[in-house]
Amino acid sequence: MSLVTGDVLLKRAMEGKYGVGAFNFNNLEFLQAILEAAKETNSPVILQVSEGGMKYMGLSFLEGIIKHLLYKVEVPVAIHLDHGSSLDAVLYAIRIGFTSVMIDASKRPFDENVNITREVVKIAHTVGVSVEAELGKIKGTEEHVEVSEREALFTDPDEAAKFVELTEVDSLAVAIGTAHGIYKGEPKLDFDRLYDIKRKVGIPLVLHGASGVPLDDVRRAISLGICKINIDTDLRVAFRNKLAEVLSIRRDEIDPRKFLGPARDAVKEVVIEKIKAFGSEGRA
Ligand code: G3H
Ligand code: ZN
Repeated sequence: MSLVTGDVLLKRAMEGKYGVGAFNFNNLEFLQAILEAAKETNSPVILQVSEGGMKYMGLSFLEGIIKHLLYKVEVPVAIHLDHGSSLDAVLYAIRIGFTSVMIDASKRPFDENVNITREVVKIAHTVGVSVEAELGKIKGTEEHVEVSEREALFTDPDEAAKFVELTEVDSLAVAIGTAHGIYKGEPKLDFDRLYDIKRKVGIPLVLHGASGVPLDDVRRAISLGICKINIDTDLRVAFRNKLAEVLSIRRDEIDPRKFLGPARDAVKEVVIEKIKAFGSEGRA
């Protein structure tokens, strides 16, 4: 069986000192691109879907995908709810068959974040689903999550240790200088902070907003405890640019396969590049 929990993939990554790419998808072309890239590189992979993505694709499409992942995919794969905003959203994902969920209560005060995360962990663990939570506030916009420059807040290492102990969460997303969406300047990661968090927290750490971060910086972050790397924007940009390029040349083309196919291949190329950089190639 190829469908596993997020925890299984991230624990292996932590032991093997490599990172697992977590790639967002909202349609068939992105899903095919990510799975083909993982298969070609013989790499584990995390497929992630936001609440908006769940609405866009619909329940039966997602259930069909999960059946496909269970029986037809040759590499280990987890399907993960990205930035779940409530217990309802998490329960919905678990019911469909997701093997991993994120509860993102990072915009709430520390105690509230602890309480809701602990509740999600209790329920999810009962049915064997892993849980990611977030502490600190990551700048930028990801679907419904919007954090301004002024609100952004780096993760405090001592708070992180306390949070993990109180919630028993499986993995922790940390705010160390990355941002969701397209960067305006060069991202500056706080590696000293990451080092301190890792010293105090024994579970796999997650890097959100990793699109646009130089791959050397991502590799350094992996060496300091990052095990899951979230990529969305880089895939969207590759898809959009290739689509625009093909349509500008084949202006009268009406067969969607002729322009969606090349756009899908462009996404696949980016996923392969990331998998190789994260060191998960050959780890399936
Ligand atoms: O949760 C998803 C991500 O953190 C993706 O961020 O769009 O900047 O790659 P990105
Ligand atoms: Zn994110």
